[in-house]
Amino acid sequence: MSTDALLEIRNLDVTYWDRSLLGLKGKGFQAVKGANLSIRPGETLGLVGESGSGKSSIANTVLGLVPATGGEIRFGDVDLASMRTNYPSSVRKEIQAVFQDPYSSLNPSMTVEDIVTEPLRVHTTMTRDERRTRALELLKLVSLSEEHLARHPHQFSGGQRQRIAIASALALTPKLIVLDEPVSALDVSTQNQIINLLYERRDALGIAYLLIAHDLALVHHISDRIAVMYLGHIVEEGPSDRVYKSPAHPYTRALLDAVPLLDPEAQRRRRATRKALPAREAPRVAAQGCPYRNRCPYVMPRCETEMPSDFPVDGGGTAACFLFDRATAIPGPAIGQGAPA
Ligand SMILES: Nc1ncnc2c1ncn2[C@@H]1O[C@H](COP(=O)(O)OP(=O)(O)OP(=O)(O)O)[C@@H](O)[C@H]1O
Ligand SMILES: [Mg+2]
Repeated sequence: MSTDALLEIRNLDVTYWDRSLLGLKGKGFQAVKGANLSIRPGETLGLVGESGSGKSSIANTVLGLVPATGGEIRFGDVDLASMRTNYPSSVRKEIQAVFQDPYSSLNPSMTVEDIVTEPLRVHTTMTRDERRTRALELLKLVSLSEEHLARHPHQFSGGQRQRIAIASALALTPKLIVLDEPVSALDVSTQNQIINLLYERRDALGIAYLLIAHDLALVHHISDRIAVMYLGHIVEEGPSDRVYKSPAHPYTRALLDAVPLLDPEAQRRRRATRKALPAREAPRVAAQGCPYRNRCPYVMPRCETEMPSDFPVDGGGTAACFLFDRATAIPGPAIGQGAPA
């Protein structure tokens, strides 16, 4: 894998443990299973997948909010996984976050100036005046202005609050911003504005993003690469255009098929050609075999017993699916060859 990565996640496991009243570990639930991901400086990795697939678990582990239970998270020279949640300040200031809900993620009792300059207060020796000057610069970067400095979060719309959260995340010009569904709570036109804002800031400042979303279509424009999660596994990863236009893993295809098309004719064609997915079974943690086998229209006997490794896909990236195992592949469905109809 790339050695020039800013963030390199290898074999990451995240398990949540029930704890009894005595503090003893009970049954564990493994939310992330052997995940591999890599982000280069200035690059945007879109991480998509349905609810509960483990996206936020990866985000929170990278942020040091949840400890990794296995694997490595290399950030530059350091392995963040071995630090558990005790990141030194030198690392904390390089990795900032923006969360989904702009209503609960901003402290309601703080002014915009306090919110935006908080990282400067914690991580720098800047004076109050210097911080205020920087706050003004930051507000400009997100298309807000001086008059907003003294206001409180409740005086803003959802989109404006997300701009404030982004300004705060930009304050220290970090190397990486983890954006966990930054636009999911916003209406469609505001979503686009915020995505555009993120795009511009990234290009101007060279910051890398780990951008989490449900909607592949929304993040495809801004992402350089896209990774797709299903039940704790990264099932596909590759250049954004390739994943979006020629999805390889059957789950990625199903995910794209679930996005409504605006053109009714395209929608009709897609319905007509879509291979019926079997009724959705309650996702079961597969002790062995492919995690998607119960829903996969292309399931083969080996999928029941073997866990597919990451096979290379034409056009770049990998898919954890035996359809791409060149050693055994049989001429099969035209998968990964063009956009879903
Ligand atoms: N603190 C926790 N304790 C126990 N289980 C948890 C905890 N946090 C998450 N989980 C479980 O881990 C799995 C993955 O959750 P996670 O929040 O990472 O998913 P997600 O992909 O971010 O979903 P969403 O799109 O709904 O935000 C889920 O089954 C969830 O119930
Ligand atoms: Mg989440």
